[in-house]
Amino acid sequence: MEYTKFMADRVKTMKGSAIREMFKRMADPEIISLAGGNPASELFPGDELSKIAGKILMTNPTLALQYGTTDGYPKMKDCARKRAEKVNSVGENDEILIMTGANQGIDLTAKAVLNKGDKVIVESPSFIGSLNAFRTYEAELVGVTVEADGMNMDELEETLKNTDGVKMIYTIPTFQNPTGCTMSLEKRKRMLEIASKYDVLILEDNPYGDLRFAGEDVPTIKSLDTEDRVVYAGSFSKILSPGMRLGYIVAPAPLAEKIEMLKQVNDVHTPMITQLMCVEFMKKYDIDKYIAKNRELYGKKCAAMVSAMEKYFPQGKVKWVVPEGGIFLWCECPTIEDITPIVDKCLEKKVAIVPGSNFATDIYAPSNMFRLNYSSATIENIEEGVRRLGEVLTEML
Ligand SMILES: Cc1ncc(COP(=O)(O)O)c(C=O)c1O
Repeated sequence: MEYTKFMADRVKTMKGSAIREMFKRMADPEIISLAGGNPASELFPGDELSKIAGKILMTNPTLALQYGTTDGYPKMKDCARKRAEKVNSVGENDEILIMTGANQGIDLTAKAVLNKGDKVIVESPSFIGSLNAFRTYEAELVGVTVEADGMNMDELEETLKNTDGVKMIYTIPTFQNPTGCTMSLEKRKRMLEIASKYDVLILEDNPYGDLRFAGEDVPTIKSLDTEDRVVYAGSFSKILSPGMRLGYIVAPAPLAEKIEMLKQVNDVHTPMITQLMCVEFMKKYDIDKYIAKNRELYGKKCAAMVSAMEKYFPQGKVKWVVPEGGIFLWCECPTIEDITPIVDKCLEKKVAIVPGSNFATDIYAPSNMFRLNYSSATIENIEEGVRRLGEVLTEML
């Protein structure tokens, strides 16, 4: 049977994430993956969470197994509020909604805001999950270059001046995915000024903000917002567990109300069991201490990756910026047009990396960039993976 004719126009041309596709090919245990975005599983608090889950199910099965409220379990909302308040990102007119991952928060914000043909300004490159969410609402993506200190603000202003129908700017200002770059304070202020001048919303996505291992914290854009113009997406994925699917949205009440209605349609509520587990974990343990362990490990892993890159990459052929936090390192090979043959050759040598085209507004345009992840592999595998990658780069550049 031929199914294309049954498919909605908005899904016909959708392309799955090459990273997810790559995961399928990575069943081979010899492949070292520097491709995904998984946090370090060696630090997951498995023992603590298994005891907590057992206790919840023994003592309060009804609460854990019954339907919950769409906006989130109240004590979980308090936990999310604490995280957001820590970075001054809850305004007096804001509501907090617990989401099934920040991913859902971004998707439902887009659903609440975007009509077919509306334009969204995104960093170029940006996180494929969000780009795909915007694509499903048939929005047009307009890319603005990311520099070492964040989005190019002159280009942003020029783009807004010359483009009709922009509703929203989507930004990951801190330890951006995929570049690892952090937007400077000056640029954050300028983005707010520009957004105000052209009257567009800002969706600030901050799943990596807690993972700084060098340099100084920079205030969130949301914390600088005086006009209730910023919707803020937070996540517990990179500070506790991605499998628990806990994220949140901080949004001005009128928008939050619509997002909540959309969530009711989407999944009614985020699973109660993981919300309760998170609440108990944060009650019993100091989550900041746990995050500090992650930060320390990521700092070491990042340093190990950078020193392996310096040792094994061909001199002067690959450019990168060393991140101050987060989980990604972004590389450019200025002497070539298209990284695809290198990515394929890497898979033959059993190391996986992600081609830059994945993060572009036009996924079909060739890219000479690639993304590396240092959080999930062991330090030994990071060194070995970069050595294999270095061999391929030396041969092909
Ligand atoms: C920039 C960015 N935003 C959002 C998400 C989604 O996070 P969550 O697991 O909370 O859905 C990710 C996950 O990798 C991400 O990199």
